Amino acid sequence: MGKNVDSFHRKIDYLRISITDWCNLRCIYCRPRGKWKKLPHSEVLTYEEIIRISRIASGLGITKIRVTGGEPLLRRNIIYLCENLSRIETLESLTMTTNGVLLKHFASDLYEAGVHRLNISLDTLQPGKYRHITGKNMFQKVIDGIEEALLVGFYPVKINVVAMRGINDDEIGDLAGLTFRYPVHVRFIELMPFSGEKADPSSRFISSDEILGILKKVAELRPASSTNANGPATHFRFKGALGKVGLISPLSHHFCPACNRLRLTADGKLRACLFSDSETDIKTPLRSGASDKELEEILLQAILNKPERHSLDDYCRESLSHRPMVAIGG
Ligand code: GTP
Ligand code: 5AD
Ligand code: SF4
Repeated sequence: MGKNVDSFHRKIDYLRISITDWCNLRCIYCRPRGKWKKLPHSEVLTYEEIIRISRIASGLGITKIRVTGGEPLLRRNIIYLCENLSRIETLESLTMTTNGVLLKHFASDLYEAGVHRLNISLDTLQPGKYRHITGKNMFQKVIDGIEEALLVGFYPVKINVVAMRGINDDEIGDLAGLTFRYPVHVRFIELMPFSGEKADPSSRFISSDEILGILKKVAELRPASSTNANGPATHFRFKGALGKVGLISPLSHHFCPACNRLRLTADGKLRACLFSDSETDIKTPLRSGASDKELEEILLQAILNKPERHSLDDYCRESLSHRPMVAIGG
């Protein structure tokens, strides 16, 4: 057995790196309560530090890295980081999750730098509602970004839709219908309780089963294979569609037994579970001259301490995290 196996026999081969806690949107399900203070520059890992941790992690069996934020495209010289990460020989896949606002400008350089897969957040096809959800008038920029990404050749391009009752449940069919127009995967995500400012998350919650019921009324739906066996999504395809639709059910059918992820936060903490605040500080040792071997031990410790599952269930929909989503990167 490799070293990258946790106490529950899960192989951890996927590292999600949040490179900034800053974002140019303020999504209602993500933005923190009150005023969000950006991390001071000195607390944020430098690119050299991120690259070093990534190299060591890949030596331990991490084969997939996803760059997240906040919004990763806001960080300066993002192309430099991607170029360097994609040079790690044992890395099989370098991906990014972005809100798409700046994508039109970056798509081609990102592709050249070795990022060939993208996940883009888009919860509505109505510009006015987009503004309500995100606080900004950027709908068209995201559509332009998605079209540019497809033009440049990214595959797959996944569209993440957070499903919210009373907000976008009336558009589930229309959003899924994007798969007839574009070769994209549209994934509906169950709303997770992360410090939404206004809405009570549980009253906005729609289960994947309910979403599937709505999708089945749109057109004939067939199960489809997944591009990622350990991914959280279950996939389907409408007859005649170019892309797939997917359901991500972190609450109703949680995927913890198959979870293969470790997270690195922008301020240098290893977070073994999205919902658990039990974090391992790797920045302090890194900045105090730790050797590669010592950093490897810290990564292994974080993997070993990964909890078996999150403890959110139908009765407990309180956020268990002191970090808002924007500071974890999903
Ligand atoms: P793929 O590798 O393309 O399947 O992407 P992904 O689903 O890992 O990444 P993405 O950043 O697009 O996240 C999609 C949704 O899944 C977001 O709402 C994430 O918060 C959620 N998600 C991702 N990883 C986890 C996880 O480990 N646990 C839980 N509960 N949710 C997760
Ligand atoms: N619940 C579900 N998904 C969320 N995301 C952000 N906050 C939440 C939440 N509270 C999604 C975003 C993005 C991905 C990284 O996480 O839509 O696509
Ligand atoms: Fe920004 Fe993504 Fe959070 Fe929206 S969900 S505020 S795009 S980090």
